[in-house]
Amino acid sequence: MNQFPPGFIWGAATAAYQIEGAWNEDQKGESIWDRFSHTPGKIENGDTGDVACDHYHRWQEDIDLMTAIGLQAYRFSISWPRIFPEGRGLPNQAGIDFYSKLVDSLLENGIEPYLTLYHWDLPQTLQDLGGWPARSTAEAFVEYADLVSQRLGDRVHNWITFNEPFVSAWIGHMEGRHAPGHQDVDEMLAASHHLLLAHGWSVPVIKENAADSQVGIVLNLSGMVPASNSYADRTAARRRDGFVNRWYLDPLAARGYPLDIVQYFGQPMDFVLENDLGIIARPVDFLGVNYYTRWVVRSEDIPEEENEPQTVFVNPNPTEMGWEVYPEGLYEILGRIHFDYKFNKLYITENGAAFPDMVNSSGRVEDPLRIAYLKDHLKSVSKAIAAGIPVKGYFVWSLMDNFEWAHGYSMRFGLTYVDYGTQARIMKSSAEWYQAVINSNAVVE
Ligand code: FCB
Repeated sequence: MNQFPPGFIWGAATAAYQIEGAWNEDQKGESIWDRFSHTPGKIENGDTGDVACDHYHRWQEDIDLMTAIGLQAYRFSISWPRIFPEGRGLPNQAGIDFYSKLVDSLLENGIEPYLTLYHWDLPQTLQDLGGWPARSTAEAFVEYADLVSQRLGDRVHNWITFNEPFVSAWIGHMEGRHAPGHQDVDEMLAASHHLLLAHGWSVPVIKENAADSQVGIVLNLSGMVPASNSYADRTAARRRDGFVNRWYLDPLAARGYPLDIVQYFGQPMDFVLENDLGIIARPVDFLGVNYYTRWVVRSEDIPEEENEPQTVFVNPNPTEMGWEVYPEGLYEILGRIHFDYKFNKLYITENGAAFPDMVNSSGRVEDPLRIAYLKDHLKSVSKAIAAGIPVKGYFVWSLMDNFEWAHGYSMRFGLTYVDYGTQARIMKSSAEWYQAVINSNAVVE
């Protein structure tokens, strides 16, 4: 039961801003995350991604790490402002060369690249012109996707347009905890639409440039469970499900935006032009699922000045992030995605947990809680496959500890421990365990 099918892909994931550093080297342009992390008060401890894991200089050592773990696949993202310092216009050869060398070396080591074009680091110049709430940013994205797929499409066969458009749109434009740090519902709605539109526009462009490739998008998906059977809690959970899950799944699956949520926002949505929904619904080869937890949703009493219930989350058994450990939720969400939406293929493009890892007196990092987390989630994946759900691969978040956005370096998600003082990498016991999983193509007890 815990044996995986032959050909199942085992990988790990990272993202450019979280690991690369070298934020202003080799003509790289400024990104919205450079700007945001350089703004006092935005990131825990005043951390920035200026140096991060220094992967830009240590990428060869990091490929050695992947080889030591035995990874078959590596999911990474491209920094758009390394390729187009000004967002569009003249490409920067040094940026292209960096990723080209990385891809060559991955292939030499038998590691299949899974390339994400957008993992949140928009060129600041495009933000200054309106960012994702502006349609022109989606047009610029297509130029970027075109250039990167022209240059790397001969070697990269797995393409992801966007990582978690919900997080870009909602946390960046509504909650303001991520770059660009805005709090505006109109911006959030227009941003989410243009992210999806840019995705739909670029799918055929990438496929044209990269022969024999598969193209997909990555969503963060989680079950939303009402804390009680009360009408208010059920309404709050259903609404949250609409914001996070259905707002993205429905249009990608050619159903348009979910009407209950459209009505809830009550906005004209006049940025949705004729044909946009058809473009967004262009078939993808796979859907990438990032799963960390479920959310138990409770509706608070309605404060006098507001007329809508507030949602709060009640998360038992939390990890460092405050996220509940709920492995069954991965099985549940996979089932729902498959039976409700029917994508041809699914990948778990991120799954993992942060714990307060430490180097012990023998220089080792023992992380039994992470091993337990990964093991239980893999059992859910295995159960999903046994139920006929086409999950084709699994990527641990993350290959190494890195810059966890607004939390800075305080959250360690890695299979590898990073000592940020020396940049030394130490494989955690979870990396050794994962190596055994890959070798046996099965969940190892
Ligand atoms: C996801 C992000 C990833 C990482 C994990 C913990 O939302 O895609 O970059 O931060 O959460």
